[in-house]
Amino acid sequence: VVGGQVRQGTLHGLGVGPGDPELLTLKAVRLLAGVPVVAYPAPEGGESLARAIAAPHVPPGRIEIAIETPMAPGRHPANDVYDKYGAEIAGHLEAGRDVAALCEGDPFFFGSFMYLFERLSPKFRCVVVPGVSSLGACAAAARLPLASRLDVVTILPGPLDDEAVAARLSATGSAAIMKVGRHFSRLKNLLQSMGLSDRAWLVERATMEGERVRALMECSDEESVPYFSTILVSAP
Ligand SMILES: C[S@@+](CC[C@H](N)C(=O)[O-])C[C@H]1O[C@@H](n2cnc3c(N)ncnc32)[C@H](O)[C@@H]1O
Repeated sequence: VVGGQVRQGTLHGLGVGPGDPELLTLKAVRLLAGVPVVAYPAPEGGESLARAIAAPHVPPGRIEIAIETPMAPGRHPANDVYDKYGAEIAGHLEAGRDVAALCEGDPFFFGSFMYLFERLSPKFRCVVVPGVSSLGACAAAARLPLASRLDVVTILPGPLDDEAVAARLSATGSAAIMKVGRHFSRLKNLLQSMGLSDRAWLVERATMEGERVRALMECSDEESVPYFSTILVSAP
């Protein structure tokens, strides 16, 4: 309490890294040990990956908020879900409780934390703690250095249409295609038609149990790949 008023809590957006619980930063671990409230995205009725990654570092007895989001493929995260949980988190912040919002990988790299940030940062103190992103984890798993000197790296969301992906790929050194999931066959065909498949790798679940790295040419066309899959294309 400061000057008769409750001091507002701080919202920490914590990157928890790509899967291996040893890839949380020291800062994320320290903050997790101290905050009374921990929030994380979870598929409706399913387990939260971010919570599972951080599990060894979340002390018992915390108030936990599972932000249940519909995970229909390609669907924009429901605004009303984030409005609702944003309001719940705002209640804790107003009462002076600090909140850690977990985010797989890095919070500002295709991270769900952005939806809380845009709602809560205008009103509350908000600290973003960067995390190890899946990009670095995939490159390490594939043993594929991404760039040096003047190399250009391009990062593409897999759901982009073929024309956009092709234009970007033809103008870059190395590339990472994320959110591959159900777009796998289409992307594989596109890379093949561009003569890039001998430089492309599919990385599944980097640093997680079941991590797998294969040359794209070794994957079958109709394969169903997990959500946590990234295609890396090495520089020519
Ligand atoms: C919504 S984005 C989240 C990215 C995350 N914030 C980060 O910094 O890596 C999800 C996409 O990231 C990629 N991804 C995340 N974790 C991964 C992992 N462990 N292995 C391979 N790809 C991963 C996949 O392309 C997946 O579809």
